[in-house]
Amino acid sequence: MGTVYAIANQKGGVGKTTTAVNVAACIAEAGYETLLVDVDPQGNATTGLGASRNGGPGLYDMLIGHATAGDAIRQTAVDRLSLLTSTPDLAGATMELPRIAGSETCLRNALAGVRERFAFTLLDCPPSLGPLTVNALVAADRVIVPVQTEYFALEGLAGLLDTLSLIQRELNPRLTVAGMLLTMHDGRTKLAQDVEREVREHFPELVFDTVIPRNVRLGEAPSFGRPVIHHDPHCAGSEAYFALAKEVASRG
Ligand SMILES: Nc1ncnc2c1ncn2[C@@H]1O[C@H](COP(=O)(O)OP(=O)(O)OP(=O)(O)O)[C@@H](O)[C@H]1O
Ligand SMILES: [Mg+2]
Repeated sequence: MGTVYAIANQKGGVGKTTTAVNVAACIAEAGYETLLVDVDPQGNATTGLGASRNGGPGLYDMLIGHATAGDAIRQTAVDRLSLLTSTPDLAGATMELPRIAGSETCLRNALAGVRERFAFTLLDCPPSLGPLTVNALVAADRVIVPVQTEYFALEGLAGLLDTLSLIQRELNPRLTVAGMLLTMHDGRTKLAQDVEREVREHFPELVFDTVIPRNVRLGEAPSFGRPVIHHDPHCAGSEAYFALAKEVASRG
């Protein structure tokens, strides 16, 4: 059985999608069949991988049972990396899901038949703790929490960890935190250094050794529809996400 990772933080713009796309690409590059699921109605992981949001069924159709995995899962331009897209109607799922009995397990059920096809499945969550994120956390084995090394970094993390414990207790006892990931780190600033120290002091066991630097290549790669390792394989962003992929895999 493959391992399913949710990339989650209810805070917006902290590097969830950048992490999901690039860790997925690095794992695929390392030789593993990998599935990226775009659980966000914004569809940034879909477009960031150069896929169309309108061409055929996606995650929404699978969630509501209108498409099979075989129909909805698409191959990407990256070898061994498959994608479940965020189509425009995924936006309605936030309203529709709560009307379905047992709606928290829709994604877990939808993925049940495909888990063994992929060594790694990554779920890119939207910036909220709404029904789509809850579905992702119920379907996941582990959570990666990107944390931007900015002033308000710690704000909301306690609440997120409370939510994770609640889901673990009530809905998904397998769920564990793989780690917190410091992102968009600018090591030249005192602020970034202070935030890194503070997050590591608060969560000594949880923070990944790998830190993702602020890197122009990481920011521009999605506009070319490709992961950073295909955009500029030797830039600091590529090296950091390769190191992270190794760390994630070694933590099991
Ligand atoms: N390490 C980095 N260096 C430079 N730019 C980055 C880096 N990580 C992310 N970005 C850029 O910052 C913005 C936010 O990143 P991203 O979309 O990954 O965050 P997110 O948490 O998925 O946002 P949302 O909450 O809206 O889904 C994007 O424009 C992205 O390209
Ligand atoms: Mg995102």
